[in-house]
Amino acid sequence: MSKVIGILAGSLRKESFSKKIAKAITSMAPEGFEFKIIPLDDLPVYNQDFDDENRVPDSYVAFRNAVRAVDGVIFVTPEYNRSIPGVLKNALDIGSRPYGSSVWNGKPAAVFSNSPGNLSAFGANHHLRQSLVFLNMPTMQQPEVYIAQVKELFDESGTLKSGETKDFLQKAVNAYIAWFTKVI
Ligand code: FNR
Repeated sequence: MSKVIGILAGSLRKESFSKKIAKAITSMAPEGFEFKIIPLDDLPVYNQDFDDENRVPDSYVAFRNAVRAVDGVIFVTPEYNRSIPGVLKNALDIGSRPYGSSVWNGKPAAVFSNSPGNLSAFGANHHLRQSLVFLNMPTMQQPEVYIAQVKELFDESGTLKSGETKDFLQKAVNAYIAWFTKVI
């Protein structure tokens, strides 16, 4: 049976470059793997009362089940104010609760960060890694995946323009799969 890797893009924006990268890599899964985008669009801000008072939003249930069903996770994150966007932190928080039932536990992860500038969301990439340590998600160390000047990489239809970028992403995906296969 195929292993399934969940792809989470840390942006709600319709024209999000993170979503475009997430979409581009779904077609790069090698044989024996399926890449599946897990959307974050309908998740209300986490409130512990929802869990404590047994009135959990349907969208939390669906999201937790979607993450539970995958074997690993690739995070595609932009950077907001040198950290991860709230929407991605919110998703991490929702998946981590109720206490003792985290859906993230043990799932091998990779962080692909991107930015319209040259720093490639380095700050977000490393802040995300801090949470992944606590969530007990072993995370690929090398290669680090930094995507700079992201605005230049896609045409109007949202397709990657250059073979060089496709090769870069495919190599990053291949490295993750090779590492995943050792870790799992
Ligand atoms: C940004 N942006 C940004 N970029 C960056 O490289 N470092 C940063 O710290 C920030 N901070 C930041 C804060 C906020 C509130 C916004 C809205 C934007 C710019 C950001 O990289 C750009 O808007 C991306 O296009 C966002 O990612 P998506 O939506 O294209 O995936």
